[in-house]
Amino acid sequence: MIVGVPREIVSGERRIALIPASVARLAKAGLEIRVQAEGGAASDFPDAEYEAAGAKLVDGPAPLYDSADLLVKVRPPAEHPWAERHEVDLLREGAALVGILQPYLNPVSARRLAERRITSFALDLLPRITRAQNMDVLSSQSTIAGYKAVLLAANALPKLMPMMMTAAGTLRPARMLVLGAGVAGLQAIATARRLGAIVEAFDIRSAVKEQVESLGARFVAEEALAPDAEDATGYAKEVAADQQARQRQLLERHIREADVVLCSALVPGKRAPRLLTREQVEQMKPGSIVMDLAAEQGGNCQLTRAGEIVEHRGVRIHGPQNLPSSMPVHASQMLSRNIENFLVHVLRDGELQVDLEDPITRSTLVTYHGEISNERVRAELERK
Ligand code: NAI
Repeated sequence: MIVGVPREIVSGERRIALIPASVARLAKAGLEIRVQAEGGAASDFPDAEYEAAGAKLVDGPAPLYDSADLLVKVRPPAEHPWAERHEVDLLREGAALVGILQPYLNPVSARRLAERRITSFALDLLPRITRAQNMDVLSSQSTIAGYKAVLLAANALPKLMPMMMTAAGTLRPARMLVLGAGVAGLQAIATARRLGAIVEAFDIRSAVKEQVESLGARFVAEEALAPDAEDATGYAKEVAADQQARQRQLLERHIREADVVLCSALVPGKRAPRLLTREQVEQMKPGSIVMDLAAEQGGNCQLTRAGEIVEHRGVRIHGPQNLPSSMPVHASQMLSRNIENFLVHVLRDGELQVDLEDPITRSTLVTYHGEISNERVRAELERK
């Protein structure tokens, strides 16, 4: 089997789907790995390292896509700027595709994949089960985002994070409030604690309280916890409007006192919940920062604009996008390991085995045998 690794085409994307260490292991397992020349340059993995790991370098996208039995990608397929064709059309009919495909947001791409009889797997649809942990791209990339968000906040803050007792007096530590303590939020807490901040956090799921406390942060507004906030898959459900209003009210004082409010609350497949209103931002101290990791899903803060820094009455609201790509070495390293583990899971003796009884295969499969196999993607397409 020939596995193709292209250079990513989305502007600003610096990650690559497989790094040389994974290439070496997969090549040893009998796969032929072809990498687009300069594919790893933006993540500091030079061509020479890929060659040393056993990959064949291919010049340009067209021959790479055309020769791959299975293509691994970071971002969903899109119009290729150099090849002047859609990435789906560059793939050979009947080939396979593995990556972060975001099929609910891109159902039209899914239809194209089905029309070309591509077997496609969206790693962002992996079930959150123990067996799938080492393939979990959402967790690995959220870890990076949570870490980087705190560094950005620390950099933007006109204060130090840690307490300092100096001959020139004592500096009080910064206070950070984390709203939404999933994988990214928990990593943000850990990072801010390492920098010496006093950290408070809230999440709608009660199971999170213990995790927050184990990282040395205080869980606040406990009265706002929703008893049935978690669905069977461990994700948060959408909260009713009155519950959300109560949550906002209970968090008011903590928001006012914070130097940084770091938002990372998401509900899968929905617009990000609104946790921070314009009025609440107006009550924050001048110089404070809102770091809204939910910017790409509409933002947890009413004033967030994705990809921008908005200044409102002395408070700066950051809406960063694609933070994992800003740490491309480790982001690619983790992503590559996730993808490698997934390939080991779905390939037997160098052949793709689509076992529909297997929950990992079934959940991630988007298109198969010329059909869209994911029910929700079909529904999204009908809605278009
Ligand atoms: P996510 O990115 O979907 O959401 C982030 C956080 O926002 C979640 O903790 C969620 O509870 C919270 N949230 C949603 N609405 C909120 C609101 N109105 N107010 C406050 N917080 C709100 O979540 P992520 O990080 O992807 O994790 C989802 C779940 O999956 C978690 O339970 C996590 O522990 C679990 N998980 C399990 C794994 C496994 O067993 N293999 C691996 C990774 C995560």
